[in-house]
This record gives sequence, C-alpha cells and structure tokens, in this order.
Amino acid sequence: MKIKSAWTRQIESGQQPSSLDLQDHLDTVHDNNAGFTEAFAWNCRDANGKNSYELLADIIDKKYHSHVLDLGCGSGVLLDLCNQRFGSELILSGVDMNDSELKLARNRLAHTNTKLYQGAAQKLDCFADSSFDVIFCHWALTLMDPVVDVLATSKRLLKESGIFAAIIDGDLKAAPGYLQVHDIIYKHVQCKYPNYGVFELGDPRVRTATELQKLTAETFKDFNINITPINLNFNAAPRVLAREIAGFFYASFVLSHSEFNHMLTDLEKYFIMNQQDGISCFTMPVNRLVVSGRGEK
Ligand SMILES: C[S@@+](CC[C@H](N)C(=O)[O-])C[C@H]1O[C@@H](n2cnc3c(N)ncnc32)[C@H](O)[C@@H]1O
Repeated sequence: MKIKSAWTRQIESGQQPSSLDLQDHLDTVHDNNAGFTEAFAWNCRDANGKNSYELLADIIDKKYHSHVLDLGCGSGVLLDLCNQRFGSELILSGVDMNDSELKLARNRLAHTNTKLYQGAAQKLDCFADSSFDVIFCHWALTLMDPVVDVLATSKRLLKESGIFAAIIDGDLKAAPGYLQVHDIIYKHVQCKYPNYGVFELGDPRVRTATELQKLTAETFKDFNINITPINLNFNAAPRVLAREIAGFFYASFVLSHSEFNHMLTDLEKYFIMNQQDGISCFTMPVNRLVVSGRGEK
C-alpha cells in the first residue's frame, strides 16, 4: 500500500509522466500486489455468466488456431484457461514485463508446455513475424504506452488470417453505478494527488471505443475491427464488494493504510444504500476488441 514511484512523483509535480515512469509505477504496483487482477476479474460475469477471460478464450477455434500468445499475461490465468480447454492442441506463449506476476504464472503453468517470457509488449524480438494465430491482451492494453508500438508488434507477429483480441476498460457511463464507485475512489485519491485522473495510466485513446477503433485501424489496415461493449457484474455483500473493488483499481494503491480504510468505509456505505437482501451489485463496463485478419473463418 502507498505506492511511490517515478510516475506518482511526476503527477505530484503536475508533469506528464514518461513511458519509463509508467513502467516503474506498474512494476512497483505489481511487485507488491501480484495476482490482484485475477482475484477480481474472475468473478465479474456478463449476462450469460461468462467472465472476461472466458470471453477471450471463446475466440479460439481449434480447427484453425494452434499458436496463441497472451500479451501482459500477468499471473497466467487466461493461459491456464486455454490450457484447460484445449490442452496440447495449442502451443501457448505468454509475455509480461513484471517478474512477480511471471513467478505466479510459472507456478500455475508448471505442468504445461506454456512458454513464458519477460519483456515489453512494444518490442518482442524473440518471436518471428507471422508466428501466431491468436494474440490476446486481457486488461493490459490500457496500461501500455506507447500503445501504437504494441499494436504494430502484434500486427507483425500475427498471421494474415490471425485474430488480435483484447478486453479493455469501457465507457465510464456505460454501466449503471460505475461512475459513482469510480468517483468515490478518485475523490480519495485526488485528496493526495489532485492530478490523478488528469494524468492516467497508459494512452487515454484506448479508453474510448471511437478512439480505439481509429487507433487500431491505423495499424491493422484491411483487418475487420469489432468493438463490443459488455457489462460485467459482481454480486456480493457490501463489505466484501467494497474490499474486492478497492483491490482492483490501480488508483487505490497510492493511498496509505488509513486513507485506504476511509475509502473502504465510503464504498461500503454506497453499497449498503444500494443493497437488496444483503447483496449489492457492481457493474463494470468493458470493451471487447476483436481484430480479424483476411480470410479469418
Ligand atoms: C491489469 S494486469 C492484467 C494481467 C492479466 N492479463 C490478467 O488479466 O489477469 C496488467 C499486466 O500487464 C503487464 N504489462 C503492462 N504493461 C506492459 C508492457 N508494456 N509489456 C508487457 N507487460 C505489460 C503488467 O506487468 C501486468 O502484469
């Protein structure tokens, strides 16, 4: 808790953080909280009961796809899911820049043939051109800066008929109640860092469907680009929900223990006001980006 990094020092002084500052911040957060994304994201479900890892894994068609890469694979949960579904029919690879996340992934996938690499998604010289049928990026594209280099690298690594698919933060207003929860968290964070939110992690263009569409089309010319907004729900008792959500927002990690607890109290109050029979619902807006190459079945 209370992460200090090159990135927080920059926003404290009102200066635009650089890509290196961002990398330092993400590394510090993940070294101290490895595995935090899956702890929450696994339990957020769409109207059909699927979580966002499943929404990506569903894209794989074993008739046509064999080589799959996960960019920003974190603790390896998506690779694990692909392995459970398809086993040795797939050749799975994962890349992440953070060592603590990769340690979790290595343990989880030790019994499989999955190959894991440490590196930045912007420049993956370890892979040859056109190596992959499918490239995934689950909840990591928003953090990647420069993001254009990640898209260009993905295009280079993808076969002509391949698919690039990502889960990305959606429009803040697309899910009922999301903005209120976001604002509670940011109100607490902005007491300490007034510029948190003015400067965000990663390239802000990725956070809106229109800009994301433009950005992707510039790199993936002649590919079919589809962005689907999806709302994911997490139902739990207000106390549980407040803690789970607080542990998922990167912004929370810059708060001290006592500041974090004040925020939890406010979140819990919000969910108590909105509960039914002791259960509250949090809805998270995401976009599912699917970029399909020529001849993709
Ligand atoms: C929010 S976590 C998501 C982890 C995993 N995909 C999941 O959803 O469970 C983002 C991950 O992206 C990684 N990451 C961020 N920027 C990266 C970059 N430029 N290159 C490689 N990994 C990156 C972080 O280290 C972190 O593990």
